[in-house]
Amino acid sequence: MKQIILGLSLFILCSFTNKTDNKFADKALRYCSNQTIRTLKELKADSVFDYTMMPRNILNGQSKWNCRKAAKEEWTAGFWPGVLWYDYEATGDKKIKAEAEKYTQSLEFLSKTSAYDHDLGFLMFCSYGNAYRLTGNPAYKKILLNTADTLATLFNPKVGTILSWPRAVKERTWPHNTIIDNMMNLELLFWAARNGGNHKLYDIAVSHANTTMKNHFKPDYSCYHVVIYDTITGKKIKGITHQGYADNSMWARGQGWAIYGYTMCYRETKDPIYLEFVQCLADAYLKRLSSDYVPYWDFDDPAIPNAPRDASASAVVASGLLELSTYLNNAKGESYKHAAIKMLQSLSSSVYQSRKSKPSFLLHSTGNWPNHSEVDASIIYADYYYIEAMLRLKRLNSEK
Ligand code: GLY
Repeated sequence: MKQIILGLSLFILCSFTNKTDNKFADKALRYCSNQTIRTLKELKADSVFDYTMMPRNILNGQSKWNCRKAAKEEWTAGFWPGVLWYDYEATGDKKIKAEAEKYTQSLEFLSKTSAYDHDLGFLMFCSYGNAYRLTGNPAYKKILLNTADTLATLFNPKVGTILSWPRAVKERTWPHNTIIDNMMNLELLFWAARNGGNHKLYDIAVSHANTTMKNHFKPDYSCYHVVIYDTITGKKIKGITHQGYADNSMWARGQGWAIYGYTMCYRETKDPIYLEFVQCLADAYLKRLSSDYVPYWDFDDPAIPNAPRDASASAVVASGLLELSTYLNNAKGESYKHAAIKMLQSLSSSVYQSRKSKPSFLLHSTGNWPNHSEVDASIIYADYYYIEAMLRLKRLNSEK
């Protein structure tokens, strides 16, 4: 009898918590939808409106999106179409779908050219990946499969990873470089291997994840941003930073890419090594996280507490942890879900939401601090992972 009462109480508590989480996610998704409509209106009011111009950032002190032309060198061009697809998923609004289609189509050329760098995955999976997932349109599938083959041309079998920045081979005389962000682009390869592409794409993704696991992480499980490899021996030369504070610091978004990336690798392979490993990465991040659950841009910036935050890192990690929580049917899984919700609550507060001040979803992201670029700004990828995380939270509760 006691057990039945305990079970029933737990069930009631869970349903109550899920309902509260859903209400919270619904409210945030309504907010995202209003901001998306506002952005579209503002973009269309421009006399030179153009579907190849993608919202990229709103800098501190500005109130309008700065747009950049969709190009191979513009790594964020897939996020705005991705935001539109997620908003369509949340609202079912056909007008948003039509806009998502047009922005997505403006990236088709990327499936027909050689790879500029590894960001091809971000560019095409956030746009076409979501487009195909939500519509099943075979034309989108073909474009994704072609792009996966193009991305795979950057794989170096001697090293075992994808060359992230081909330009740095000449410009910086780095024989082969791999950056932690590249973990995110493996999703396109895994997807392609599961959807009629060559099985080698799966092998490349696994090789990249394993080689990165071996070389990219320090004893405290923080990661280097960049690892340079020797193309003759295939061995690691050194680990350094590019966008972080120092080679040995923990750059918040880099750690986020790693947490999200290895969670995705576990989803795709079911290899328990990734599940074990990603918990170490997540714990290293959570152990050092500030009390408002949004990190400073780099955990080791000596200017803390006067250093800028990075809301984008928080959104990436929240989305990754929500997925990770579903693979751990235990207290640890619950604690990741709890942490992710805390992150999303903080991001949804008046401190981090742009609200009336700007048409973006979020404020306070840091793009490239060493370069003094996009510091304390609204940045499109923060919005992308924020809306994704809210949709994941809703899905997670409806699956229970
Ligand atoms: N280059 C990707 C990033 O800024 O995280």
